[in-house]
Amino acid sequence: MPYPYVLLSAAVSLDGYLDDTTPERLLLSSPADFDRVDEVRASVDAILIGAGTIRADNPRLLVNSPERRAARVAAGKPEYPLKVTVSATGELDPEARFWHTGGAKVVYTTDRGAERLRRTPVDADVVALGADLDWRRLLSDLAEARGVERLMVEGGGRIHTQLLQQGLADELQLVLAPLFVGDGKAPRLFGPGGYQGGRLRLLETRRIEDVVLMRYQPTAPGEGGLVSAADRHWLALACELAELCPPSRTAFSVGAVVVAADGTELARGYSREGDDLVTHAEEAALAKIDAGDPRLASATVYSSLEPCARRASRPAPCARLIVEAGVRRVVTAWREPDTFVEGADGAGLLVGQGVDVVVLPEYEGRAKAPNAHLLG
Ligand SMILES: NC(=O)c1ccc[n+]([C@@H]2O[C@H](COP(=O)([O-])OP(=O)(O)OC[C@H]3O[C@@H](n4cnc5c(N)ncnc54)[C@H](OP(=O)(O)O)[C@@H]3O)[C@@H](O)[C@H]2O)c1
Repeated sequence: MPYPYVLLSAAVSLDGYLDDTTPERLLLSSPADFDRVDEVRASVDAILIGAGTIRADNPRLLVNSPERRAARVAAGKPEYPLKVTVSATGELDPEARFWHTGGAKVVYTTDRGAERLRRTPVDADVVALGADLDWRRLLSDLAEARGVERLMVEGGGRIHTQLLQQGLADELQLVLAPLFVGDGKAPRLFGPGGYQGGRLRLLETRRIEDVVLMRYQPTAPGEGGLVSAADRHWLALACELAELCPPSRTAFSVGAVVVAADGTELARGYSREGDDLVTHAEEAALAKIDAGDPRLASATVYSSLEPCARRASRPAPCARLIVEAGVRRVVTAWREPDTFVEGADGAGLLVGQGVDVVVLPEYEGRAKAPNAHLLG
């Protein structure tokens, strides 16, 4: 199920607050950073905020620069990104600026919230997602029904917390402002709960006047059949590794990465790595990990091509090596075609041994690219 690229954006005080408790909105960013935010807004298809932020800040959520709006229109996009909010209760003020500025709007809510919005309507498309709001259904609806490829989420804290804890954020853009709030009742950026265990990947730091922008990418694999945003990033890396393979007319070029449950990369590899003309990507990666490493049992193997089920060059195919290593989850982009082995079904072998196999076909084109000469 494809989801949009989800970009969380927030500004925080040095003591980690999103706002203070006064009725006025606390301005944390600097003028140049507000302009950067405007640029990011202009680059996305939709912007989402929680109902709490509509109540607290009454924001317009616009692209302010006329040049950026004109560039969107010239590119065939709507002048303003779609504005999205979520509310369980449906208690939304129909007079809020959110509804009366910018382009199209949509509210995702619960059945009871939709009922309330029938009595007190707002100027927006209302989508009821059942008794509770399911973020995956919301993201699927944005992608499939509304063509949203990039979604910017501008808070508040309860929204950011859920998207991060559920592994649905592709990127976090955090601005640290040089001031303190010092009020324990003020809203925090992230609430308590279950976050990924390991470290996020730092993509960038940028000084903007007196604030610092930090861009991070979550790294934790999904669980079982549930796909996390990080799954897509790791699979994209596997596809990049496939590009490094020495060319061959008799074997596929494949990349693989093994990642622990906390998002730590354990090893990576690619076909024919290190002048071994027959080594496969998963085999090369697994060979770099101590067989007794306890993290293997909850690790995920990312492979640009489905792990092989049969091979002549070595006694054990990669699907078997994965099972023997104790790995219980594999994410791949492309099922093996009949080019060299007819009816290869590495995924079937893995599933038969209790391994969860997730195929993300949106990466198939990238996985095939270094193999185009073999595919006719
Ligand atoms: N510094 C920044 O960058 C920044 C950015 C944005 C906001 N803020 C600040 O953050 C504060 C607001 O944050 P907040 O955490 O209180 O509110 P919020 O995250 O904006 O919104 C929370 C509301 O969203 C709805 N919601 C959240 N999760 C839901 C779910 N799973 N299902 C259904 N509805 C759901 C609920 O609405 P209902 O109550 O209607 O059910 C909930 O009360 C404000 O003070 C604002 O100024 C700061």
